Amino acid sequence: MTPPPRAVVFDAYGTLFDVHAAMARHARGMGEGWQATSALWRQKQLEYAWTATLAGPEYWRDFETITREALLTALNWNGGADGKVVDALMDAYRSLPAFPDVVDALADLRAAGVATAILSNGSRGMLDAAVKSALLDGLLDAVLSVDAVRAYKPDARVYRLAEIAFRCHASDLVFVSSNAWDARAAAGYGFRTVWVNRINQPTEFALHQIATILPDLAGLPALLLPDQEGIRAP
Ligand code: LAC
Repeated sequence: MTPPPRAVVFDAYGTLFDVHAAMARHARGMGEGWQATSALWRQKQLEYAWTATLAGPEYWRDFETITREALLTALNWNGGADGKVVDALMDAYRSLPAFPDVVDALADLRAAGVATAILSNGSRGMLDAAVKSALLDGLLDAVLSVDAVRAYKPDARVYRLAEIAFRCHASDLVFVSSNAWDARAAAGYGFRTVWVNRINQPTEFALHQIATILPDLAGLPALLLPDQEGIRAP
C-alpha cells in the first residue's frame, strides 16, 4: 500500500480559490457576457505569466501586475476598462472564496499528520490576502510563492520550491492542481499528481495515464490516506 505523502502541495487559483468569483461578485455592473470576460481574464493572466518566464529574467513582472494587465485586456475586448471597475475587481481577486470542499480536505489531511501547502504563481501579497480572507491560514503549513524564483509554473524552478520547503524528493509529495498544464508538468517533474477536473473538461496531456483525476477535493483524503478511510465519509 502506498504510504501517505510527506505533504500535499496545492495550486491556488482555480484549485483552492474560485477565480471567477471576482467577476461574479460584480456581475450586475459587468452586464451580460461577464463569464466570457472572466474566462478571457484568466486565459490572458496565464499567457502573460508564461511569456514573462519564457522571454527572460528582464521581462519578469509579479503576478499582481500581470493579473491587472490581463484584466485590462479582457475588459478592453468587451467595451473598455473603467478605472474604478478595475480597482474593484482587483480587490475582489485578493479576497476570492475557497471552493466548498477545500476546508474539509485540508483539515482531514492535517488531522492525519500530512502537511499541506500552496505552491502558486501568485505573488506573496496576493496569496497571503487570499489565504487570510478564505480563513485557510490555520490549515496550511506553507504558502510558497514563485516570487522566490521570479519564474512561473511550469518552470521546474518553481516545483523545486516544494522539495526545498519539505526537504524531500518530489516523489514523497503529492501535487494537486485543477490546471491540466500544471498537473502535466508536475507529474513530469516527479510528483505524485492529482488533477482536479472541476469543470468536467476533456482530458488533456494524457493525464488519465500520469495522474489521478478527481472531480473536486472531497475524495482527496480517502485517496491519500487509505488506512483512515471514512475519516469523513463521502
Ligand atoms: C496558480 C495558478 C496557476 O495558483 O493557478 O499557480
